Amino acid sequence: MRLFLAPMESVVDHHFRTIYSEIGGVDLFVSEFVRVNDMPVTTKTLLRECPELANHSRTANGTPVRVQLLGSNPQTLGESGLKAAKLGASAIDLNFGCPAKTVNKSHGGSILLKQPRLVGEIVAAVRAAVPSEVPVTAKIRLGFEDRSLYMDNALAIAEAGANELCVHARSKADGYNPPAYWPYIGKIVDALDIPVIANGEIWTVADWRRCKAETGSQDFMLGRGLVACPDLALQIKAAANNEPYAPLEWHELLPLLQHLYLATKDQYPLRYLGNRLKQWLYYLQLHYDEAAIFFERVKRYKQPHEFAAVFAQLEKTG
Ligand SMILES: Cc1cc2nc3c(=O)[nH]c(=O)nc-3n(C[C@H](O)[C@H](O)[C@H](O)COP(=O)(O)O)c2cc1C
Repeated sequence: MRLFLAPMESVVDHHFRTIYSEIGGVDLFVSEFVRVNDMPVTTKTLLRECPELANHSRTANGTPVRVQLLGSNPQTLGESGLKAAKLGASAIDLNFGCPAKTVNKSHGGSILLKQPRLVGEIVAAVRAAVPSEVPVTAKIRLGFEDRSLYMDNALAIAEAGANELCVHARSKADGYNPPAYWPYIGKIVDALDIPVIANGEIWTVADWRRCKAETGSQDFMLGRGLVACPDLALQIKAAANNEPYAPLEWHELLPLLQHLYLATKDQYPLRYLGNRLKQWLYYLQLHYDEAAIFFERVKRYKQPHEFAAVFAQLEKTG
């Protein structure tokens, strides 16, 4: 079984991947999407979005990171995939799931699911351009307005030579609302010869068990559930191996929260100071009561000394 941390634009950047690779349990990461238009993406952009490329496409402790590309132009996507492969990408992942209006307007992400033939052409072009030893993978939703074309897209991707397919078990119209329609993934698993990674609405070990039973997948991608519960991957692995497991306690997370704050604080204008810390706390409060209290405390903080004081105090009191 492999567990992936889902790509999440503006959430799962390389700082976040570093933290999660230290926590453990995640076998594979995927970069935020790199948008490709009518020109191949530059080396500078690839290195900015996926700095792990400079480390053989791995986090500092050696977990592979895939480069995710998003666009609709088969040729420039192929050229960009080749560029990323030359920089050492562990795999090239193609995004056919993004629901954002701006992205869909420029003909990228989930809107392409209305055209399985184009989806196949894109995968085939990238597969042809990228050396065969570098996997080309794709991530889809079940459709755009509805789920009627889910199998056409899955088959088009497999027939075009993709090495793996990740399925987020909702259409674009389903948004991020529960449920995730896992049985559709089961149908894709049955129809395809390549690994199919199941994604959507896995928040607990019990969810993972049901997802596994309903999909028959061997591999799983965890998104918001893993952001809210940072050792969910470890919990799932322990459960899969029938091993005892002591869940991560709140005080063990404090150094990691401080790490994210310090790593990202100079990345944004001062008025957004602490935004990434607050964002993680927003998810963590779904799992830890202490995170809600911490969030309430820091949500209006804007000054470095306010954050420094709160971390200094927490270091003493835990
Ligand atoms: C804030 C946010 C950003 C996301 N960004 C991406 C992205 O860049 N690429 C992608 O393929 N999926 C993206 N997704 C979708 C997730 O990878 C995942 O498919 C989705 O959240 C469902 O999994 P979950 O129910 O476990 O969260 C994003 C989701 C969220 C909530």
